Amino acid sequence: MTDRNKGKRRSSRWFGTTDKDGFIHRSWMKNQGLPDDAFDGRPVIGICNTWSELTPCNAHFRQLAEYIKRGVWEAGGFPLEFPVMSLGETMLRPTAMLFRNLASMDVEESIRANPIDGVVLMVGCDKTTPALMMGAASCDLPAICLSGGPMLNGKYRGQDIGSGTSVWQFSEAVRAGEMTLQDFMAAEAGQSRSAGHCMTMGTASTMASMVESLGMGLPTNAAIPAVDSRRRTLAHMVGRRIVEMVREDLRMSRVLTRAAFENAVRANGAIGGSTNAVVHLLALAGRLGIEFSLDDWDRLGRDVPTIVDLMPSGRFLMEDFYYAGGLPVVLKTLGDTGLLNKDALTVNGRSMWDNVKDAENFNEEVIRPVSRPLVKSGGIAVLRGNLAPNGAIIKPSAATAALMQHRGRAVVFKSIEDYKARIDDPKLDIDETCVMVLQNCGPKGYPGMAEVGNMGLPPKILAKGIKDMVRISDARMSGTAYGTVVLHVAPEAAAGGPLALVRDGDFIELDVAGRRLHLDVPDAELVRRRAGWTPPPPPMTGGYQKLYFDHVLQADQGADLDFLVGCRGAEVGRDSH
Ligand code: FES
Repeated sequence: MTDRNKGKRRSSRWFGTTDKDGFIHRSWMKNQGLPDDAFDGRPVIGICNTWSELTPCNAHFRQLAEYIKRGVWEAGGFPLEFPVMSLGETMLRPTAMLFRNLASMDVEESIRANPIDGVVLMVGCDKTTPALMMGAASCDLPAICLSGGPMLNGKYRGQDIGSGTSVWQFSEAVRAGEMTLQDFMAAEAGQSRSAGHCMTMGTASTMASMVESLGMGLPTNAAIPAVDSRRRTLAHMVGRRIVEMVREDLRMSRVLTRAAFENAVRANGAIGGSTNAVVHLLALAGRLGIEFSLDDWDRLGRDVPTIVDLMPSGRFLMEDFYYAGGLPVVLKTLGDTGLLNKDALTVNGRSMWDNVKDAENFNEEVIRPVSRPLVKSGGIAVLRGNLAPNGAIIKPSAATAALMQHRGRAVVFKSIEDYKARIDDPKLDIDETCVMVLQNCGPKGYPGMAEVGNMGLPPKILAKGIKDMVRISDARMSGTAYGTVVLHVAPEAAAGGPLALVRDGDFIELDVAGRRLHLDVPDAELVRRRAGWTPPPPPMTGGYQKLYFDHVLQADQGADLDFLVGCRGAEVGRDSH
């Protein structure tokens, strides 16, 4: 194999000199029992690990990293594992999304500051995947992702239950008086019964699928269960491959092209993926300077049928998806229908089509043929209008068909606390034709754009057997959630967007087919209301939250921090201490 940069690698500037600095760099590393030839100019591979016991979805990563190291040593590389900030979706407050950009800074600076020639990104729980890809993209070294894999199917009373999706169902059943609290508690252990991330097609599984469809992971990366021995084999192969990638100088920017992003958007439609992929891919493209916008999501996803029948849109779970053939089958199907950029380069050095053209579907209930889709048009719809001048999104495959065109009276909640304080009040003036509006939950407003957009319905409406209403906010929603939920309204209320001006009793028109979201209030009245609006104060007067508040971009730009947009490369600037 051609070693395109032997002797010129970054790591040789640390380990390849015979002066005082070379002594320092090698000597201290040798306290870990490393032989002289570890420093002979071989590729140094960083293993960027998001292991944490506070991130249960990634809690098996220390073992997985050992398999990567086997592959690295075997291929003639030198592996060095390092930790970065981990982001546990279920634990972090106020929301893990607040820290995605912070973690990406940790990744970027850790890679650039150290003698790393190529990097394995160990990703799993929702925000860890975009955070690590964004940070590495801003350095643009050879990089490959290894997802941690989903949990085994949840089991409760003989039924399959799915992470998140079943929680929303159970909690609404408790609120409607259809499930006892005792049963609710008993379902917890059965839902999460193995290592791995959420096993519905939530954000983690979606982002693992984005990794594979962007070409950033090896084939089958998305779906192998975390505890299946083939996940460890994949880790071993990733270790081997990153060493070759360094020798080939196959950098991230050669894989993450516009063609790759187009493939990812279409794959997202085909899998019925999470709305969270929208902000994450916009932010990732921004790091690489790729022209890619919210409108691309709408345009590219329009003709894509959802063929994967997984919760929350469908019936099955990730374990079933893997046994059916996994994402390669989906990508092959897209290729067969003219919806795949077949020549897009992937991390194994082959084209996307070479990787997937022989994929076989072993279960046409789980991965349906295009003639029998779960949803005919499965992409993300982008709405615009005077209520969302810079756009808002809705996932039609998770919405109720009868509500996709709707005019209703607004019932406004000023914050999530206001919603929680009033939603159970039997005197709340609301019926099922109303539109629930939630303000101040966007990137600045929450802060961190929390997953609260799928507000639960009032108990008095649930008691009638009604399960869905139109809901509008500047928040996100969990990838495991569902409903006629308009999200990511931009600009957000806290940035002075028109969402801030909506009042109880206003009428709102939603027209998904026409891509329209309209607040039926005269312009002059909106001007009058705006004159009385005051921006909210920052959540904190110092620290990261202040930095975040001052610099976060809106959802239509991926909610990255303005000064992190772009690729800054891997040059350190100074070669000595
Ligand atoms: Fe970690 Fe869902 S909570 S992936």
